[in-house]
Amino acid sequence: MSSSNLAAPQRFLTGITTTGTPHLGNFVGSIRPSVAASRLSGVQSFYFLADYHALIKCGEPERIQRSTLEIAASWLAAGLDPERVMFYRQSDIPEITELTWLLTCVTGKGALNRAHAYKAAVDKNDAAGNDPDADVTAGLFMYPVLMAADILMFKSHKVPVGRDQIQHIEMARDIAQRFNHLYGEHFVLPEAVVEESVALLPGLDGRKMSKSYDNTIPLFTPREQLRKLIAGIVTDSRAPGEPKDTEGSALFQIYQAFASEPETAALRQAYADGIGWGDAKQMLFERIDQEVAPMRERYQELISHPQAIEQLLQAGAAKAREVATPFMGEVRRAVGLRALNAQAAPAAKAKSHKAAAPAFKQYREKDGLFYFKLMDAQARLLLQSQGFESPREAALTMSRLQKEGVAALAELKDQVQLAPGISEDDVAAALMDSAAAAAL
Ligand code: TRP
Repeated sequence: MSSSNLAAPQRFLTGITTTGTPHLGNFVGSIRPSVAASRLSGVQSFYFLADYHALIKCGEPERIQRSTLEIAASWLAAGLDPERVMFYRQSDIPEITELTWLLTCVTGKGALNRAHAYKAAVDKNDAAGNDPDADVTAGLFMYPVLMAADILMFKSHKVPVGRDQIQHIEMARDIAQRFNHLYGEHFVLPEAVVEESVALLPGLDGRKMSKSYDNTIPLFTPREQLRKLIAGIVTDSRAPGEPKDTEGSALFQIYQAFASEPETAALRQAYADGIGWGDAKQMLFERIDQEVAPMRERYQELISHPQAIEQLLQAGAAKAREVATPFMGEVRRAVGLRALNAQAAPAAKAKSHKAAAPAFKQYREKDGLFYFKLMDAQARLLLQSQGFESPREAALTMSRLQKEGVAALAELKDQVQLAPGISEDDVAAALMDSAAAAAL
């Protein structure tokens, strides 16, 4: 790697869906590490309010507006510096939806069928004996493509996300790769960053803190409300004086996410010494409040001035569009949405790509039968067919491979074989390249 590459800033991008009120789990898992990362040198951060994504899950306009305000105010109160960071609202960047369509046209429907969120909805319907797509919107189905547009628009290298989102980043990567194959190198291939060290915060009932479990502690709930909520954290029935287990204690894990190491060690000791649950809850309450109180004040101030936040977001959108507008122009031209008198600049590149691409070859042998084979760009044999009675049969089998990819090999095992030393992955890559070249 050249030194100029090393010096180039790494772009980090992440979005938060605007459907809820930020809770302690969001703070520990996302807001706090994002703000810390945005202060590193050599990093350019993009943080945005994913309100288009919110529409997929939420049909309540007031809630979406309120959540957008609350999440924006939370990030700012937690120390996000909008001068340093690209901070914007997704729906203020019309190029995102525009790019979504171009990406949709290079996304395999089969890949979307396999997306976890969609599949979970279908499985649930199946289990209930409903139509598989009952109550499933096309928005849910297209979710990964919209997310790919978010990521690819700003050529992000790294995408910090929770485990549940890894598949989406992989899909964005596949979509980018496919587009680049077809139209030249326009997109950066993103990588997911999953912070192993960032704790998954348990909620009031001990399960992962999540709005869907209704077990959250809102980040900026008033002090007395915070005390009440903490009093409701589940514990076991051990009396004061009895030693307590830190293992599996939601209270302990939440404390650990806010405390220093010596503080955590002290609580561990107190557990062993039989601290009463009431006292332990008091300690947790004071520790969280100590960290949150100054932010809570800033939050209250921010949230009571929505106009100021609106201006900030508008300024952020203007900055983001300085990148998005010209890039969208580039991508539109690449796919052929361009002025009729424009030169087709990328075509030269496309042609050379085609010349070097893997290819199917059809031929007839002395036995009178019709064959085909797949060769890679270096003329290495990848696939070899059996003999077919007619050229049409050979062509149909070949086109099935072109359309369905390696997935078709299992069913075609009597007609087509991998060449010695060739793996299905080699063939998958070659099929993709040959499809790309054919499309140019
Ligand atoms: N889908 C993400 C979530 O639910 C939010 C999101 C939307 C996102 N677009 C993104 C995250 C782009 C990272 C990058 O958590």
